[in-house]
Amino acid sequence: MEDYEVYGAIGAEGFARLTSGFYRRVPQDDILGPMYGDRDLEGAEERLRDFLIFRFGGPPQYLEKRGHPRLRMRHARFRIDGIARDRWFSLMSAALEEAVLPSEPARLLRTFLSETATFLINSHGETS
Ligand code: HEM
Repeated sequence: MEDYEVYGAIGAEGFARLTSGFYRRVPQDDILGPMYGDRDLEGAEERLRDFLIFRFGGPPQYLEKRGHPRLRMRHARFRIDGIARDRWFSLMSAALEEAVLPSEPARLLRTFLSETATFLINSHGETS
C-alpha cells in the first residue's frame, strides 16, 4: 500500500478517531498541555485531521482552508526539543493504538508521524 491509498482504507472516520484520541490527551499532558495553553483545541484537531486526510489521499480541505502546510514555519513559534517531540509522538502512538486501524495503514501513518515529528524539532535545549 502507498500513502495515498490510506484514506481509501480508513476513511474520514479513521482519521477522526486518531486525531480525537490525540487531542483528548493533550490538555492533561504536563509538556504539551502548557504549549497549547488556551488555544482552540477543537480547531487544532480539525487542522491536524484535515492535514492528514489531504496528505494520505483524501479531499484537500486543508489546502483550501489553510494553504500550503509549511509545517516547519507553522511550528517555529513553539519550542520543540527532543523531549517535546518524543512526548508528542507518544501521545500519538497511544491514539493510534486506541483507533485500532488496519495494520498497513497504521504502519504508514506511524512512520510518517514519527519522521515528521523529528523534522519539526527546532530547539536543542537551554544552551542552543
Ligand atoms: C513534534 C511535536 C509537535 C508539537 C509540540 C506540535 C505542536 C503544535 C501546536 C501547539 C500547534 C498549534 C495548534 C493549532 O492551533 O493549530 C500545532 C499545529 C499543527 N500541527 Fe503540530 N506539533 C508537533 C508535531 C506535529 C506533527 C508531527 C504534525 C504532522 C504530522 C503536526 C501537524 C500540525 C498541523 C497540521 C497544525 C496546524 C497548522 C495550521 O494550519 O496552522 N504537528 N502543532
